[in-house]
Amino acid sequence: MSDLSKSGDVAQEVARRRTFAIISHPDAGKTTLTERILRAGGAIQMAGNVRAKGERRRTRSDWMGIERDRGISVVTSVMTFHYGGCVFNLLDTPGHEDFSEDTYRTLTAVDCAVMVIDAAKGIEARTRKLFEICRLRDIPIVTFINKMDREAQDCFALLDEISNALALDVTPATWPVGRAKDFVGTYDVRTKKLNTKEPLEEGDPRLVALEEECGLAEAALPEFEQEFFDEGHLTPVFFGSAMKEIGVTDLLDALAAYGPPPRAQPTETREVSAVEDKVTALVFKIQANMDPNHRDRMAFARVCSGRLTRGMRLKHVRIGKQFALHTPQFFFAQDRQLVEEAFGGDVVGLPNHGTLRIGDTLTEGEELRFTGVPYFAPEILRRVRLDDAMKAKKLRQALVQLAEEGVVQLFQPQDGSPPIVGVVGVLQLDVLQSRLQAEYKVPVGFESSPYTVARWVKGDKAALEKFAQVNRTSMADDLDGDPVFLSSSGFMMNRAVEMNEDLTFHDIKQIG
Ligand code: G4P
Repeated sequence: MSDLSKSGDVAQEVARRRTFAIISHPDAGKTTLTERILRAGGAIQMAGNVRAKGERRRTRSDWMGIERDRGISVVTSVMTFHYGGCVFNLLDTPGHEDFSEDTYRTLTAVDCAVMVIDAAKGIEARTRKLFEICRLRDIPIVTFINKMDREAQDCFALLDEISNALALDVTPATWPVGRAKDFVGTYDVRTKKLNTKEPLEEGDPRLVALEEECGLAEAALPEFEQEFFDEGHLTPVFFGSAMKEIGVTDLLDALAAYGPPPRAQPTETREVSAVEDKVTALVFKIQANMDPNHRDRMAFARVCSGRLTRGMRLKHVRIGKQFALHTPQFFFAQDRQLVEEAFGGDVVGLPNHGTLRIGDTLTEGEELRFTGVPYFAPEILRRVRLDDAMKAKKLRQALVQLAEEGVVQLFQPQDGSPPIVGVVGVLQLDVLQSRLQAEYKVPVGFESSPYTVARWVKGDKAALEKFAQVNRTSMADDLDGDPVFLSSSGFMMNRAVEMNEDLTFHDIKQIG
């Protein structure tokens, strides 16, 4: 009997969880919208900004400082707040493109993404890229067209552009009332309610235009269908101005009303439903902790099922040992507090000393491994140059630790030559260099490597060994010991692919 009531609670709690991220091109208004959302959710009392400025505007030296003063990013990694009877977990993603790997991994831990579009600019490059990552997992997308208080493109043209550029059905959930400086609010297409900053008199030209446009929209565009939204094929579109706080509660109300609640998560053997009784969790991000003198880390884990409580002991499946949750932490926008319990969809911070890695699974004993946390083949490969040969062993340990945190990817050439690091953006190299110096006292430089393309190679053991022998100087092992083929050009890589039909070459590695 008690088991039944417990599972009822879990189902209820899970149903009111909303875990999402905001994706956008720099400058579209992600930071501003985040602030307004948190304020609407009561997580920020004061007026003003959470963060001083958009991350992308920081200079290189700022980045170094931020990396040292890691508290900032830890605090803003996950923001939990209550709104409309729901518990929202907003997962922050780095604004800077050079750290996009971190963003991709974070997107595997959300159930929904809010895509912010600048009303004047429409779909931009980075929006498109992040959208594609969401599509890989069929993550439902809610669209927020921001900056309607400025000169904007025609609404129909914007909707058309989203639909065509992303091959996605669009349905307006709200419609803007007035434009640019006359933009005063929104009209909810479903409830037919006006939500304006100031009352409008009958016959106001904005209302006349609204009626006409809504009629056109209704005739031309599909209605909202929960199923298509859940599958990621249809995006409801909200118009607003983060700056003027218009349309922000429309967005939150919609997320509260039609979700989506935490989705089932794939493992190597079965799908884990969020309402299952037993706890499971997946580590998707590691962050070095705030105190640089202690090498402890914070692992961010998404609770995938069950009721996670403080003091619980879970099985760390990769190493087959117990992991005690002494001090799991929730992350509110302003401060941290100890978690008493967390449910599917929630994100908890688990302090540890390097036991947990990205992709690790925790369970109550079941031999499960979550899949789907991706590593992308790096686009920049560099050899690490160590000036003090006495520190080779220390460097190796440090590189392994930092690679486990996801700062860079590490490739150990099979011919014993110095390690190669792979990154998506050069700022990652700066961060690596500064952290090796500051935390490990290992000064390094980077040298160009002869390689520009890396691919994970799969195949049966004999075929792999044969390939590795022939290509000994171009083979390396990644952090998990999986073989990687490094090539000097796309052309050479294609040749290797063509000549080795018994092997497959991959630019994404799914871990977990
Ligand atoms: P990001 O995180 O996506 O990069 O964007 P961010 O919120 O930092 O916003 C980028 C710029 O756009 C900022 O202006 C911000 O004030 C402005 N902005 C955001 N939302 C709106 C909106 O709804 N309407 C209008 N008109 N502007 C908006 P900035 O001049 O670069 O910085 P600031 O001096 O205003 O902080």
